[in-house]
Amino acid sequence: MIHPLTPIYTPRLVLRCWKPADAPLLKEALDSSLPHLRPWMPWAREEPSSLEEITVRLAGFARDFQEGRNFIYGIFDRDESTVLGGTGLHPRNGPDDREIGYWLRQSAVGQGYVTESTAALTTIAFATWPLQTVTIVCDPDNRRSAAVPARLGFACQGTFPTKNGAPDRDLDLIWQTSRTAWAARSPLNTRRPQTVH
Ligand SMILES: CC(C)(COP(=O)(O)OP(=O)(O)OC[C@H]1O[C@@H](n2cnc3c(N)ncnc32)[C@H](O)[C@@H]1OP(=O)(O)O)[C@@H](O)C(=O)NCCC(=O)NCCS
Repeated sequence: MIHPLTPIYTPRLVLRCWKPADAPLLKEALDSSLPHLRPWMPWAREEPSSLEEITVRLAGFARDFQEGRNFIYGIFDRDESTVLGGTGLHPRNGPDDREIGYWLRQSAVGQGYVTESTAALTTIAFATWPLQTVTIVCDPDNRRSAAVPARLGFACQGTFPTKNGAPDRDLDLIWQTSRTAWAARSPLNTRRPQTVH
């Protein structure tokens, strides 16, 4: 069993729980990426936020993480000097599932970072909890987002009426992998993430 607070090291990334002290790095990543994020991330339409507001937000994320309510990770480069994006393991679909969400700063798109972080989080999710499935939900029009689970071999479940209150769309495109399917995936995707240096 892996404790969810343990940082995850992949070949190019560190995924870890946010700390309030990450606020300047997160603000820089968000403020440099708003036109890229706003079409797909409703919260980005409320940005920019002040450093103080982001610090409070990150303290809330850390509290949720520590108390097991929601697991929102920062995606950092390996020396943790740059925020590349954010991701999360969200308990939105009952006790047997975690849903992965993600975003990248604009300058980090096109390099496979979210495919790498999502593969690592999926492996960690199954190693951490007795889950049956890991799910990814996106806007059917968000082709870059849908390409991530497709690239990792998640099965497309189809298009369903939106749940979880997405304010600006009627349909969710849902992707899923099961514990057994993930364990049997292609050797190309089997590199195990590390949880220690
Ligand atoms: C969705 C989002 C995270 C996808 O970003 P992305 O860069 O396309 O995804 P990845 O980081 O996995 O990179 C894949 C791209 O890198 C390329 N790539 C380069 N090196 C790679 C590697 N080692 N492994 C995999 N892909 C690699 C792939 O070919 C692909 O590029 P292409 O689409 O031009 O062919 C990003 O577009 C984003 O932040 N969008 C705004 C927020 C958003 O929509 N979030 C999702 C809401 S559901």
